[in-house]
Amino acid sequence: AEVVIVPDEAAAGELVAGAVAELIVDRPDSVLGLATGSTPLSTYRALARRIEVDRLDVSRVRGFALDEYVGLPAGHPEGYRAVITREVVEPLGLRPELVHVPNGAPETIRIAAAEYERAIDAAGGVDLQILGIGRTGHIGFNEPGSSLASLTRVKTLTEETRADNARFFDSPDEVPMHCITQGIGTILRARHLVLLAFGDAKAQAVADAVEGPVSASRPGSAIQLHPHATVVVDEAAASRLE
Ligand code: F6R
Repeated sequence: AEVVIVPDEAAAGELVAGAVAELIVDRPDSVLGLATGSTPLSTYRALARRIEVDRLDVSRVRGFALDEYVGLPAGHPEGYRAVITREVVEPLGLRPELVHVPNGAPETIRIAAAEYERAIDAAGGVDLQILGIGRTGHIGFNEPGSSLASLTRVKTLTEETRADNARFFDSPDEVPMHCITQGIGTILRARHLVLLAFGDAKAQAVADAVEGPVSASRPGSAIQLHPHATVVVDEAAASRLE
C-alpha cells in the first residue's frame, strides 16, 4: 500500500475529500464505500464543504456502508443507518435512496447479507472504499479470524471492539454483541481502498496491516492483497511503521 503521513485528522480529511471530489467530477454516479465510527468524520466534513464550494452535482452518487449492528431498535441514533444519515447523507446532500446500509434486523439477517452482496454487484462495485481500522485490526467489523475471502455476513464483535464502541452508548451493555458486515472479500473488490487511522492506539494495527504477514488473524493486512490501497495516517498512527 502507499502510505501518506499527514499532520492531523483535518489534513487527512482534506486529502481524502479531494480524491472523492475528483472521483465524483469524473464519474457523477460513482459508488462510495462508507465507514462509520470516528475516523472518517473529518473526511465527511471536508467533503461536505467541497461539495458546497465547488457546487458538485451529487444527485447520482451512490453509497454502501460497511456494516451495521444487529438487533438495535429501528431508528436507534447509534445504529449505522442513523449515523450514515446524520454524518453522510444529510451533510453531503446525497439522495437517501441511493445510500445503502445493511439491514440489522435479526429475523432477516441472512437474506439481508445475500441481498447486500447482490446490491453492490448490481451497482457495478464500489469505486472508492473509505476504511477505518479497529485496535483489533478489524476492517469493517471483520474481527481476527475472518476469512480473507469472506462476504457480507453476521459476525460477533470482540469484547475489545464492544468496549471501544461503548462511548457511543449510554452503557457498555447496550453495545450489541453482533453485527452484519461486508466481508474482507467484499471490501477487496472495491477499486480503490483508502484506509485512515489516527492516534497511538492504532499504531500497532496500522503496522500489522501495512507491514505484517497477510493473515486472517490480522484482517487489516488484507489491504496488501489489493493493487490500489492508500493508507492515510497521522504521525502517531504511523509510529510503528519501519
Ligand atoms: C466502521 C467500521 C470499523 C471502524 C473501526 C474504527 O464502519 O467498519 O472498522 O472503522 O472500528 O473505528 P473508529 O474510527 O471509531 O476508531
